[in-house]
Amino acid sequence: MDSLQFPESFAWGAATAAYQIEGGWDTDGKGRNIWDTFTHQGGDRVFKNQTGDVACGSYTLWEEDLKCIKQLGLTHYRFSLSWSRLLPDGTTGFINQKGVDYYNKLIDALLTMNVTPLVTLYHFDMPQAIEDQGGWTSEKTVEVFEKYAHFCYSTFGDRVKLWITINEPYVFSKLSYEQGLLAPGKGEPGVGAYQSGHNMLKAHAKAWHTYNTFFKEKQKGLVSIALDSDWAEPLDPNSVDDKEACERYLTFRLHWFAKPIFIDGDYPAVMKSEISRKSKAEGLTTSRLPEFTDDEKSMIKGTADFFCLNYYTTRKVIPLKQRGPSYDSDMGAEGIKDPEWPESGVEWLAVVPWGLRKLLAYIKDTFGDPNIYITENGFAQSDPPILQDTHRWGYFQETLVEVLKAINQDGVKVKGYFAWSLLDNFEWNSGYSIRFGLFHVDFNQPNLPRTPYFSAIQYAKVVKGNELISK
Ligand code: BGC
Repeated sequence: MDSLQFPESFAWGAATAAYQIEGGWDTDGKGRNIWDTFTHQGGDRVFKNQTGDVACGSYTLWEEDLKCIKQLGLTHYRFSLSWSRLLPDGTTGFINQKGVDYYNKLIDALLTMNVTPLVTLYHFDMPQAIEDQGGWTSEKTVEVFEKYAHFCYSTFGDRVKLWITINEPYVFSKLSYEQGLLAPGKGEPGVGAYQSGHNMLKAHAKAWHTYNTFFKEKQKGLVSIALDSDWAEPLDPNSVDDKEACERYLTFRLHWFAKPIFIDGDYPAVMKSEISRKSKAEGLTTSRLPEFTDDEKSMIKGTADFFCLNYYTTRKVIPLKQRGPSYDSDMGAEGIKDPEWPESGVEWLAVVPWGLRKLLAYIKDTFGDPNIYITENGFAQSDPPILQDTHRWGYFQETLVEVLKAINQDGVKVKGYFAWSLLDNFEWNSGYSIRFGLFHVDFNQPNLPRTPYFSAIQYAKVVKGNELISK
């Protein structure tokens, strides 16, 4: 048996998001958000029309969550703030004190347990009142978000030192405003995702500057954004077309947000040229991809104090020839799964641990060798799940081996790993049918009991020893 030690002070965490676990959707003055509206509309857009009204009940059962965190021995816990629980109409015009109290209790209790909070300001749950004015497709949201961020730093920043402004701008922009699959369900192909991404980049950058200008000196925290990406390889490594398609795949997915933030404040050249060329051919006078002014570029550049990476899977890439305005036809690439790769619980999640190592090395080389936290990675079980999930633990273990290789052999500065997720929870369109938890939640019992999977028991051993025991 080899002993595989992680670096000293490696952050061991698990992650959750407010709408996916809290429930209490209309409790104690919380305002409505887009998921409340979307799930209540029915129409089978969510598995069996399930909702997050109750979810894991963490709004009342948060102490049960703390027991799980304690059992795992985590050093860090990533959770998100429900914007409309704090500011019911999204603006600082009215502050819901009960919402503030809730997060204060949670943060204080974590600190008492010596667990460092990593707090996400926005994880897919826009206040409905802001959505009604255009949500992320409206420029006005940039300022509203900046004020929300300011409010959160001033309310919790004496104790929270690690912040994520926005979770996965790619996933949210594409699945919500391009495809209309996620709330608010308003897809406008080839247009909506770019508008949303544009405003998210500006909102993130402003929120970073707000911290830097008004809070950093006193609070001494760090602010970043969580970017998700697949790793991608050309299907045929000898095909020039596949290689170019693969580059476009990573560009449209990862560089879309990482290049402006980590390199130069602007979109990748290939996105600008492709989208502008296609827009012209469609008879438009301006590109469907909005442009940044020079001032905006300087404002966006350099607005992350570390790199947060959410990694789940890998794709083999081939060119895509599709007509009509859409993100996919702009990208001109299609990612496919290798049938050899095992699948974990849900169709899109092919298990490819080595893809994470390659992606980490790529980020190191491409985006200036930043400190990297893997802020989400995980494997699902379909329903009904098994508690003795040895296969799933195998995937975690293989992944952690790759993280170690990235650190030790490739010199990547990986500073922490957060398993998605602490608990089985509301998995967006899949409702409760997909289980990502380290802890099983029995959604059929009113007290929503949490029980550790085998993976949780094993993860706790890794955390405790700060090392992985491999065969
Ligand atoms: C999201 C989570 C989600 C997970 C698994 C990520 O894209 O941040 O909210 O539950 O993937 O699908």
